[in-house]
Amino acid sequence: MVRCPAKLNLFLEVLGKRADGYHELDTVMQAIGLCDELRITPGEEGEELSLACSDPSLPTDGRNLVLRAALALRERTSCRKGARFALTKRIPTQAGLGGGSSDAAGALVGLNAAWGLGLSREELRQVAATVGSDVAFFLYGGTARCTGRGEVVEPAPAPAAFHYVLVCPNVGVSTAEAYGRLAALTYGPPRASISVLAAIAQGSVEGTGQRLFNRLESAALGLRPILREVRELLAQTGLFAGVGMTGSGSGFFGLCRGDDWERAHDTAAHLGLGQAYAVRSLPDGVVAGPAQGS
Ligand code: C5P
Repeated sequence: MVRCPAKLNLFLEVLGKRADGYHELDTVMQAIGLCDELRITPGEEGEELSLACSDPSLPTDGRNLVLRAALALRERTSCRKGARFALTKRIPTQAGLGGGSSDAAGALVGLNAAWGLGLSREELRQVAATVGSDVAFFLYGGTARCTGRGEVVEPAPAPAAFHYVLVCPNVGVSTAEAYGRLAALTYGPPRASISVLAAIAQGSVEGTGQRLFNRLESAALGLRPILREVRELLAQTGLFAGVGMTGSGSGFFGLCRGDDWERAHDTAAHLGLGQAYAVRSLPDGVVAGPAQGS
């Protein structure tokens, strides 16, 4: 069993559009204890790759990132063994939480062990980068600054566990659409991740809360105006050191002060804006073994 956590973007700046169509990023990602579970049954040489998923709305063919990751690993290593995957989804989709990317990272770590490939984390990172921009982060997890199109991962110190309340509204945002809309927006000079990283390294909830930032937020609010209400209601509770949007949305989160976690969760759950979760930061990423966290 591989535990595949969700992530939050505590900071996300878009530095520009690249020649390959992707955007150059400076982002700080945090793994959190809201996790999918991936079971892997390895097969013999020449056997098929197949996937069963607890969420019937998700594809279980080659469009699913778990199978894409398995195919990319086969390509990298010339291994031709099969595998059966059973994926239990708990991470909401189209919410900016990286669930599909985390599942793909879980498949890479799980198959590396199950097929006896012996690839290093750096070798897995290179395969991960071909599957999706966020996949590499989940091989490291914890707290990390990610640059390039997201696939260059620098783990960052985070001595204190932070608590978050996450709200996933009933509307989703497509990542490609949010990046597309960004082109029409004008904004000032880029912000840097250095000050939020310093606040995290100091274990400062207030300092981190004040520095939460996401350049894609105005694009997402333009696409789904209802999200403005989500942000405002979370901020009005007065229970958070800061409120932010993760990825390209639609998930919003509040960073909890002190011991207010349960109270903050109850408050968010009663806002009636979608699914609310109380989650804590994790020090690692995908982990093979018994279920932990959450
Ligand atoms: O890499 P991934 O498949 O997760 O990206 C999904 C979409 O998000 C891309 O097709 C692209 O439109 C957008 N994207 C981007 N710049 C990034 C990451 C993603 O434009 N750094």
